[in-house]
Amino acid sequence: MKSVVIEQPGELVLAERPLPQPAAGEVRVKVQYASICGSDVHIWHGHNPFAKYPRVIGHEFFGLIDAVGDGVANNRIGERVAVDPVVSCGHCYPCSIGRPNVCKELQVIGVHRDGGFSEYAVAPAKNAYRLPDSVPDKLASMVEPFTIAANITAFLKPQPNDVALIYGAGPMGLTAIQVLKGVYGVEQVLVVDRLPERLALAQENGADGVFNNSEIPLAAQLEGVQPTLIIDAACHPSILAEAAALASPAARIGLLGFSGEPCSITQQSLTSKELSLFTSRLNSNRFPQVIEWIEQGQIQPEKLVTHYFPLADVEQAMTLFEKDPRTCCKVILQMG
Ligand code: NAI
Repeated sequence: MKSVVIEQPGELVLAERPLPQPAAGEVRVKVQYASICGSDVHIWHGHNPFAKYPRVIGHEFFGLIDAVGDGVANNRIGERVAVDPVVSCGHCYPCSIGRPNVCKELQVIGVHRDGGFSEYAVAPAKNAYRLPDSVPDKLASMVEPFTIAANITAFLKPQPNDVALIYGAGPMGLTAIQVLKGVYGVEQVLVVDRLPERLALAQENGADGVFNNSEIPLAAQLEGVQPTLIIDAACHPSILAEAAALASPAARIGLLGFSGEPCSITQQSLTSKELSLFTSRLNSNRFPQVIEWIEQGQIQPEKLVTHYFPLADVEQAMTLFEKDPRTCCKVILQMG
C-alpha cells in the first residue's frame, strides 16, 4: 500500500509499505478521504513534540472497514467509518471520568502511531464510528475537526444570549462559529483575524461581525462591547491577556493553544471579573454528537473545504495548506 511517511523531520515520502493486519480488537480501514490539519505539517517539519519518526501522518480520515481482528464482529466489514484518533488506556483517572483525550497513556493516531494518510490504516474497533448515508464520503473526514469545537463548547456551555468572540478564522475558529450558531443558537458571534480572506470565510460560516486586528487593535474596534464567551482559536500566547481585558465580568474563556511560550497575565485580571478559564484538547468521545449534528444539518462541513488533491500530490497539497491561508482552508486528500 502507499502511505505518506515522515521519515524524519523535513523528509516526507510517499512510500510503499506492507498492508497492516488488524490486531485483536482492531479494524483495518481502506481509507477513502483524509483531511490535512496544521499538526500534520508540524510533524513534517519536526515541530510536534509528541511525534516519533518514521510516522505515517493523518488523524482526520474516513474509509470502509475491510478486515477485522480477533474479537471484532465480522459483520463490521464494509461499514463506512470515521475514525476517532484518540486511543486511551481506559483505566487511568481521566479515562475513568470520561476524559480519554487526556489519558495518561494517550496515543493519537497519526501522531504517536501510524495514521490515515495511507491507503489502509488500523485502529481500535471502538474508534471507528459508523456513518449514516447522509454524511457524504467527501466530507466524512471533517467529523474530527468539528469534535474539537464540540469539546471546547461542552466546557463553555454557550447560551443564546451570549456575546461570543472567536480569535482566529482558521479551521478551528470556523468550526467553532458553526457550532455556536447552528447548535447552540448564539445570537452574536464576533470573529477577529488578521487576514481579510479568512474573515470573509468567517462570515460565510455564520459570523455576525468580523474585525481585522492587523492594524487597529481589537479593543478600539469593539466600542465597549464585552464578550461573555471567548474562544482562542488563533493561539498566540499574547491573546489570553487581551481576552481577559476585553471580557465581560463572569465571562468564560476557552483556550486551544499548545504554545510552549509563557502567557503573561495577572491574577487580578482574571479574579476581579471572576472569569472562568477552560482548556480543551482533542475530543472526549464526541464523534457521535458531531455525526448527529451533520445528519441534522446543524453544521455544514463543506463550508470549510477549499481543495481536494489525489494522494500522489500530498506534498503539493500540504505546501499549499501551509503557505497559502488566504486561498486555502481545509484540504482533503483522496486515496486510490
Ligand atoms: P490556522 O493557522 O489555520 O488559523 C489560525 C488563524 O488565526 C489564522 O487565520 C490567523 O490569521 C489567525 N491569527 C493568528 N494570530 C492572530 C491574532 N493575534 N489575532 C487574530 N487572529 C490571529 O490554524 P487552525 O487549524 O485553525 O488551528 C488554530 C489553533 O488551534 C492552532 O494553534 C492549533 O495548534 C490549535 N489546535 C488545538 C487543538 C486542540 O485540541 N486544543 C486541535 C486543533 C488545533
